[in-house]
Amino acid sequence: MRPVTDNLDFNERTASAIVSGRLRPGNDRLGVAVSGIVSHIHALVSELRPTRKEFREIVAFLTDVGHATEDHRQEWVLLFDVLGVSTLVETMNSARPAGATPNTLRGPFYRADAPTLSLGASISLDARGEPLTVHGRVTDLDGKPVAGAILEVWQPNADGIFENQQPDLQPEFNLRGKFVCDQDGGFIFRTIKPGGYSIPSDGPVGMLLQRLDYPLNRPAHLHFRIGAQGYQTLVTQIFDADDPFLTQDAILGVQRDLVGEFRKSGAGEWELAYSFVMAPARIQEQAS
Ligand SMILES: [Fe+2]
Repeated sequence: MRPVTDNLDFNERTASAIVSGRLRPGNDRLGVAVSGIVSHIHALVSELRPTRKEFREIVAFLTDVGHATEDHRQEWVLLFDVLGVSTLVETMNSARPAGATPNTLRGPFYRADAPTLSLGASISLDARGEPLTVHGRVTDLDGKPVAGAILEVWQPNADGIFENQQPDLQPEFNLRGKFVCDQDGGFIFRTIKPGGYSIPSDGPVGMLLQRLDYPLNRPAHLHFRIGAQGYQTLVTQIFDADDPFLTQDAILGVQRDLVGEFRKSGAGEWELAYSFVMAPARIQEQAS
């Protein structure tokens, strides 16, 4: 039967069927998403029954999100991040076998061109902050070493700010580097203890969240990207177990397996021991 597209009987009961009937997305996934959004929005409008003024306020918020988005600021991505949508999509697309280290969002501060350093080197170029040594191993699911794995690390400074957020104040490539793991899958590097940070609070998303008393903080963490032939590339973050915001991450990226213990060593410096478990590449990844 041909779908309903006739608008002569448009009303609250028929609205969704009429508009959905006009959309013929076929295999167009964006079209499928729009069609789904339409029926959900119609259901929400029927439930909320907004006044004209309230509807204008909703449109104004979405307009502000668009206006705040530019080359160096993606307010739409921030909105999806704080609503848990980005992490949900990441979770669906990076399911790992039991025992493998989980993926999390890469975030906006990654740089692929960070320098390769020798094991044991420091990534802190301005030596500001509390010294921290990070070490561990990269293994497969059976605990066997992944020799020669490429481990990339990037992190904010003690104030929670990444090098590429303040190029005039931090040396280029401060607190980021690449390391080649040894024959035992081992790695070690020196850095400083990262600070936690707040997501931007000066845009429409941040202002809305403050109104709604939603947490804006991200617990302190280091970012990692680990790649090796025959394994799924692991993009993840390791969080400070003692951070007060550990369970209130604004973008919901923390998982139990990604919490690391930052311990004070005998010399009074910080130490983080953490080992990563890689999952074998999927068939299509091995083929490509
Ligand atoms: Fe981060």
